[in-house]
Amino acid sequence: MHPLILAIESSCDETSASIIQAGKVLNNVIASQTVHQKYGGVVPELASRAHQQQIHHVVNEALTSADIRPQQLNAIAFTRGPGLLGSLLVGVSFAKGMALGLQLPLIEVNHMEAHVLAHFIDEPKPSFPFLCLTVSGGHTQLVLVHDYLNMEVIGETRDDAIGEAFDKAAKMMDFPYPGGPLIDKYAQLGNPKAFKFPHTSIPGLDFSFSGIKTAFLYFLRDNKKNEPRFAELFRHDICASLQAHLVSMVMNKLKEAVLQTGINRVAIAGGVAANSGLRKSLQEQAAHSGWGVFIPDFEYCTDNAAMIAIAAHYKYLAKCFASLDVAPLANLAIGD
Ligand code: KG4
Ligand code: ZN
Repeated sequence: MHPLILAIESSCDETSASIIQAGKVLNNVIASQTVHQKYGGVVPELASRAHQQQIHHVVNEALTSADIRPQQLNAIAFTRGPGLLGSLLVGVSFAKGMALGLQLPLIEVNHMEAHVLAHFIDEPKPSFPFLCLTVSGGHTQLVLVHDYLNMEVIGETRDDAIGEAFDKAAKMMDFPYPGGPLIDKYAQLGNPKAFKFPHTSIPGLDFSFSGIKTAFLYFLRDNKKNEPRFAELFRHDICASLQAHLVSMVMNKLKEAVLQTGINRVAIAGGVAANSGLRKSLQEQAAHSGWGVFIPDFEYCTDNAAMIAIAAHYKYLAKCFASLDVAPLANLAIGD
């Protein structure tokens, strides 16, 4: 089978569309929303409105740049959740409208499963089973991936996501949203051992990032008492130290998961997988302990429709179609 599928992603603040043919991604059109920057976080109502304004152009661009007419498509795929309800609704409704108008089957995709399946867009592809650490602005999960359509969450955050910890720390230093990439940028010029933060790990494979967020707030407050420009003067060292700390927190859990499962094929996914400290640390661990490590292209780390398209491809082959009355689910979990 050589299905030709249009996939739509609208779970948070990127409107994206992608065309996939016979499992090969033809394009990945992404319109990012800049309207949230001045608020220091995504404003759900504004995100939903921006999706409504952009989705038609983004889908059109995906079709025309791949030289595909809508009538040639075999299915329409969309992100059902998890995500912001108002944002998801725009993509779901647009996909339903197209499927109804063109008399095509619909494919619903779980956004978190799609982050994992982004590893099957390009070579090298991991063989099953493998472990995937999915780290984004909304999630931090350790996933045991048995197959394309069979995955199990074996650890996850009990409070904040790691991306949220990056972004909140960045906000405390007055960086614009999302601050994660800026912390990464400044960290590359700093000393990761300049400052120490308390280790607030919980037992087992679950994560917790609320403690480090508070510790970082007090760290800045205390140091600013002596030097009001502390955050500015020591920006590179602060970013490098915080990043090294957050990376070591997730690396420790990954090592634990490899020990517990006996699986040493390890992948990372999600927006924070773009972090240079995490990528480097994973590569060093691979060289040191013989792990097989899989790191996606930057383009497929943050939210994008190509990952929805590859997930939809495998669902099409398995004949997993959605009905027209499917509704978005803000807290859809892996395995639901
Ligand atoms: O997967 P994603 O695009 O959206 C969600 O589903 O959340 O992830 C966005 C998150 C944000 O928190 C952003 O700050 C973070 O990924 N991020 C990074 C980097 N690039 C993106 N965090 C640290 N270092 C980076 N280079
Ligand atoms: Zn995401």
